[in-house]
Amino acid sequence: SDDELRQWIVAAKEQLGDRVQILGHFYQRDEIIEHADFVGDSFMLAQAAKDHPEAEAFVFCGVHFMAETADILSGPEQAVILPNLAAGCSMADMATIDQVEDCWRDLMAALDEPSREDGLQPVIPVTYMNSSAAIKAFCGRNGGIVCTSSNARTVLEWAFERGQRVVFFPDQHLGRNTAKDMGIAEELMPLWRPHLALGGNTAQQLRDARVILWNGFCSVHKRFTVAQIEKARADYPGVRVIVHPECPAAVVEAADGAGSTEYIRKQIEAAAPGDVIAVGTEINLVNRLQQQHPELTVFCLDPVVCPCSTMYRIHPAYLAWTLEGLLAGEQPNRVSVSDEVSRDSRVALERMLAARP
Ligand code: 13P
Ligand code: SF4
Repeated sequence: SDDELRQWIVAAKEQLGDRVQILGHFYQRDEIIEHADFVGDSFMLAQAAKDHPEAEAFVFCGVHFMAETADILSGPEQAVILPNLAAGCSMADMATIDQVEDCWRDLMAALDEPSREDGLQPVIPVTYMNSSAAIKAFCGRNGGIVCTSSNARTVLEWAFERGQRVVFFPDQHLGRNTAKDMGIAEELMPLWRPHLALGGNTAQQLRDARVILWNGFCSVHKRFTVAQIEKARADYPGVRVIVHPECPAAVVEAADGAGSTEYIRKQIEAAAPGDVIAVGTEINLVNRLQQQHPELTVFCLDPVVCPCSTMYRIHPAYLAWTLEGLLAGEQPNRVSVSDEVSRDSRVALERMLAARP
């Protein structure tokens, strides 16, 4: 039963002690979060893996790209375990390393720029944390950087100090929302569709561009609409609407605030009793925030929103199975990034950690 499973996990954790740290992303179901030693957004979980050199293993309750990042930032002897290897991210899967390398080659050929007196690079590659380690390594090798939803603007500013343009992988919405926030016009943000020559653009459009956006998106966040915000405002006059920046630009513009999952959590913490807050992000986080704050009304903008189906693949039974393996001295479902990819992606990740204000 669920209860037996819970008790089994609690007992296993007790036996493993501090040797094993369980990290849980905000989107995990409650039956996982209750066992996590550390809960956070993707940036905080990356930091947690870096900041616990005493742990022998991290059980990463999140998705594959996050576990890879934890492996890159943690020590070589520390194991990162993903309880279910099928927990990927559909957005991260929208950009493969081969497509990114093809894009880079074609982009460079189309720009065909002689070196400039101001020393700026023609283009800086920026990848959202939600991408494979191979793409992070590509950015590390090519003067680029990683960002998360909590530091995308700082990272783009870093990139524009070094380059004339940015190519942003794989989430078009985070890229567009951040660039718009910096005052960049939408006409200067062509979309790169990987199956089309020059991504479906002319060479002139690419030369004029400030931010070239990869054609990726999150299937959970793209469901939110302006009509849902209008309905929330009609149903609850005075409602505050907060959304994740993976939502489309029109939704972010119609909202009162946009930010990472940690930003959303902090906004709820700072609300006054009686406040009504409509949230545009994954349902597990929204429901938990409502439970933690009965003095507020917190609800999800999309009444039929589904959870992130891949985050949901981390079931307590998988967690129990990995703990059982660790107790037996094994490392089941270890996520290991090769030394070369680790080295290059660490360059891009450390640029991000240093760029954060
Ligand atoms: P955060 O970076 O806000 O944790 O979001 C990760 C994610 O996958 C959002 O869809
Ligand atoms: Fe990926 Fe979207 Fe799920 Fe986040 S919510 S892990 S971006 S599919």
